[in-house]
Amino acid sequence: MSTGGLILRPMTLADVGPVYALDRLSFSLPWPERSYRYEVQENRNSRPWVVEDSSESPARIAAMLVIWLVLDEAHVATLAVHPDYRRRGLGQRLLAHGLLAAEKEGADLAYLEVRQSNLGAQALYRRFGFVVDGMRPHYYVDNGEDAILMSLRPLDPQALSALLHAGETIS
Ligand SMILES: CC(C)(COP(=O)(O)OP(=O)(O)OC[C@H]1O[C@@H](n2cnc3c(N)ncnc32)[C@H](O)[C@@H]1OP(=O)(O)O)[C@@H](O)C(=O)NCCC(=O)NCCS
Repeated sequence: MSTGGLILRPMTLADVGPVYALDRLSFSLPWPERSYRYEVQENRNSRPWVVEDSSESPARIAAMLVIWLVLDEAHVATLAVHPDYRRRGLGQRLLAHGLLAAEKEGADLAYLEVRQSNLGAQALYRRFGFVVDGMRPHYYVDNGEDAILMSLRPLDPQALSALLHAGETIS
């Protein structure tokens, strides 16, 4: 896998197939493929993003993020990095980009749910300053696992920029 050629851009309809494949690789309860079509085509509150690796032929989807923006709240609905691209700072930079864009559109608060067992994702969110607000017991229907609720307030553009610009370049 090459390290250059990473492009962060809005998700398009053409990305839905590979994004759905990434979702299935990453989660035990993936969204249906039609959900991604809805996010791209119909959901006016949705800000769906991808990172494409253009150095591969054909280009691969390395990461995806969906944020729902409602007034001053940014809900991190889903985030996944392809296993081949993990622990290279991609998740961090994609999330920082998405939250910065949401902040520019007026968001002051971000929140999300994460599985109790997903310590890697929780470590990523803590790096942003997300704190635990509470828990939704038995939230995940596949194994009855609890969801941890985390939030970040305020969204600080300077702190998010620093997280965005850490590590390898994404154009
Ligand atoms: C969680 C996920 C998005 C992280 O993406 P990533 O690109 O690998 O994360 P980054 O490389 O940007 O990590 C940044 C920091 O977050 C923390 N982190 C990320 N993944 C971690 C892991 N598996 N274990 C421990 N810490 C982790 C570390 O502090 C890391 O910095 P470091 O590598 O310098 O130690 C990715 O593992 C993934 O897609 N997992 C499956 C789907 C998922 O769980 N999504 C989140 C749902 S809430």
